[in-house]
Amino acid sequence: MLMLKPHFKVNARGHLVIGGCDAVELAERFGTPLYVVDEQRVRENYRRFHRAFVERWPSVLVCYALKANSNLAVCKVLQSEGAGAEVSSGNELQNALKVGIQGERMVFNGNYKTIPELELAVINNVLINIDNFQELETVAQVALHVGKKARIGFRVNPDIKTPTHPYIATGLRESKFGFDVASGQALDAYKRASRMKNIEVVGIQAHIGSQILDAAPFEEEAKRLMALVAEIKDRLGIYLQFIDLGGGLGTPYTPEERELPPEQVAERVVKVIEKSVEEKGLPTPTLILEPGRYIIADASVLLARVGHTKHRPGVPDWVAVDAGMNALIRPALYGAYHHIEIANRITEENSKLFNVAGPLCESGDFLGKRRKLPPVEPGDLAVIFDVGAYGLAMSSQHTAKPRPAMVLVNSGKAELVRGRETYEDLIHLDRIPSWLE
Ligand SMILES: Cc1ncc(COP(=O)(O)O)c(C=O)c1O
Repeated sequence: MLMLKPHFKVNARGHLVIGGCDAVELAERFGTPLYVVDEQRVRENYRRFHRAFVERWPSVLVCYALKANSNLAVCKVLQSEGAGAEVSSGNELQNALKVGIQGERMVFNGNYKTIPELELAVINNVLINIDNFQELETVAQVALHVGKKARIGFRVNPDIKTPTHPYIATGLRESKFGFDVASGQALDAYKRASRMKNIEVVGIQAHIGSQILDAAPFEEEAKRLMALVAEIKDRLGIYLQFIDLGGGLGTPYTPEERELPPEQVAERVVKVIEKSVEEKGLPTPTLILEPGRYIIADASVLLARVGHTKHRPGVPDWVAVDAGMNALIRPALYGAYHHIEIANRITEENSKLFNVAGPLCESGDFLGKRRKLPPVEPGDLAVIFDVGAYGLAMSSQHTAKPRPAMVLVNSGKAELVRGRETYEDLIHLDRIPSWLE
């Protein structure tokens, strides 16, 4: 068994306990595959992250990135902590509104926002981070139509290499996001916007990537952003009120990875901002952060029932569980590692090598390869760790498998916060055309 994080326990029956609930009982009560979210851990992660910045800078807004997990219960927990929201679609924006997060405490990002989405954002005073020149024109028209000024910033591309998977590295010059800084495009965007009537230019934003466990790229990002902020002030006389460094703080997924403490990131980033504010005579800006993964990843596990095992001479045995790439696509998509244990044998020695497969008809449908587990038997309960971020959010109905249910646990209480999809849910939007009836 690996060293479990402190929010997990093991009970006298040798079962994994999360949020005071026995994982085996949760699986029996709610079925599998089942996402389980530990409310207290979400709160702890948020508080630690928030405190790291608030203790170092006078004005901070932590906007939880809903794309990591936009479940209403999760959003409600974070709203009750005072979090703002980073949204990347109109529906995420609606989720944030539904749980009581005010539009003024939201930022709207993305490289293609639709007109209805932009209208919703302008109506609710959401800070829109504009991605390209055409979008700037569109937002100005939307603002005119709505009869309200749009609060905007620009997503800029600071050209920073991040040590992460290429699919989630977003700060490189060739990435699809934002305005190029080096060529002067970003400065030009501010110049154009400053002449527009229905536009209020208030911020600047970048997001350099996700799952970053090194503070250096964040520090470099802050340096590049602050250099641009100073240039915008000197050349255009625009003082930006919001400096948004995006999200990206990672979480250790493998037993070898070490955490990057948010305090360390805050320390290095705030030093850069402080120095720049002092040297350039800038008014104190509000620092916006958009963490997703850090807040929710390790607060959730996926429980999956073992169906069969299969022996293959000379290679690890296979164990098939009822959650596959439909429930958790990260291993198939990014080759991501998620630690796996057997929840009902958590104290037993992991003595045997297995490949852990899902139930779908694809060779890519696995949750882990060459994993040491106890001698697994049909009916055992596998637990896949650190699945809270981009787990259920990226799940699908591949091979007409219903998406898993999710429960929230806290101090021994468990309640369903997302029902399990049914066959009816799967087909209720399908239609057979009249000529085939
Ligand atoms: C613009 C933006 N902000 C925030 C995030 C959240 O990133 P993370 O979950 O790594 O903190 C993302 C994730 O892709 C993003 O694209």
